[in-house]
Amino acid sequence: METRIVKAYGDESKDREIMEEAGRLIRSGALVGMPTETVYGLAGDALNPRSSRKIYEAKGRPSDNPLIVHIAEKEAIKRITEELPEKAEILMEAFWPGPLTMVLRKSAAVPEETTGGLDTVAVRMPVNKIALELIKAGGGYIAAPSANSSGRPSCTTAAHVYEDLKGRIPLIIDGGKVGIGLESTIVDLTGENPCLLRPGYISREMLEEKIGEIDVDPSIEGVMDEKEHPKAPGMKYKHYSPKGELYIVKGKSDNVIGSINRWAAENREKGLKTGVLTVSEREDRYKADIIRALGAENDGESIAANLFLALREMDDCRADMIYSEEFQVPGIGDAIMNRLVRAAGHKILEV
Ligand code: TXA
Ligand code: MG
Repeated sequence: METRIVKAYGDESKDREIMEEAGRLIRSGALVGMPTETVYGLAGDALNPRSSRKIYEAKGRPSDNPLIVHIAEKEAIKRITEELPEKAEILMEAFWPGPLTMVLRKSAAVPEETTGGLDTVAVRMPVNKIALELIKAGGGYIAAPSANSSGRPSCTTAAHVYEDLKGRIPLIIDGGKVGIGLESTIVDLTGENPCLLRPGYISREMLEEKIGEIDVDPSIEGVMDEKEHPKAPGMKYKHYSPKGELYIVKGKSDNVIGSINRWAAENREKGLKTGVLTVSEREDRYKADIIRALGAENDGESIAANLFLALREMDDCRADMIYSEEFQVPGIGDAIMNRLVRAAGHKILEV
């Protein structure tokens, strides 16, 4: 199958032709690469079980890992959910359209293929204009996991989607580099207390300001014992990983820099390439093969926006060993470290 990349602008008059084509593809059960404000998604008709099966196949993703259903109008939530708790309505008003996903009881309209057999459904209304146009063109209910092939860092550009899915989908809509760069915050509203399943741009504090205290799924803080399962099934899989071996290095700045430079020299003697993830203030202090500054030390938004890109660049440069500093920033810092710790398979070195 040939995969075309076509630009869109988030302007209905300019995008008419491409949206007609993309909508037709989705309604016929095909898949389309779609920009959103968080990461690129792999879009299919959420109410068509065949489309959901195709999504799992194209991504190489286990089919017990449910998909998020994207809608373009708040009203649309009623058809796919069984009940709408008051806290869900408050969060919708506060954060939609935007990077927040809510887990709710599903209605019979949503096939089990889309929810990985669960009786709940994850719903989000993105703010990206191209995504909203595509959701409408495709019939109003779009299942879209992140468009990376399973296990790889999520895609923040159309070129990344092409890299992972070329030959497997007919069309990728290019809306430029995404704004946020990390997937949406997920909150589960089906239990007695709301529960944070995945941290994102909308922080726990922002949610609590609106609906009071929320629990945090133990898998997020990495204190899960073997018998427990994360409530978002996707969080149990190895994720976001570059091909090289990634370590997070914690400690006083001088120790971190000294250790990484020493390891880089040792690696070179063994014929191994070393990559480093750091911030612009310290970029010049490293001696390694590939050094990427994700942004200024206190600029969480740049660090988030560049994280997946930098992990993919490590692959492009064939880094064998990758060392990352710990990024401590308020707000989005939790989401950054959540993705980084998973990408590193929880390998953390204290120096
Ligand atoms: O920002 C985003 O959310 C992006 C863009 C494309 O919208 N999508 C995304 O989808 O990150 P995905 O499939 O890569 O991650 C969805 C996560 C998975 O961890 C999955 O297990 C969880 O959401 N999830 C989906 N439905 C769920 C449900 N009913 N209950 C619990 N977790 C659910
Ligand atoms: Mg994903």
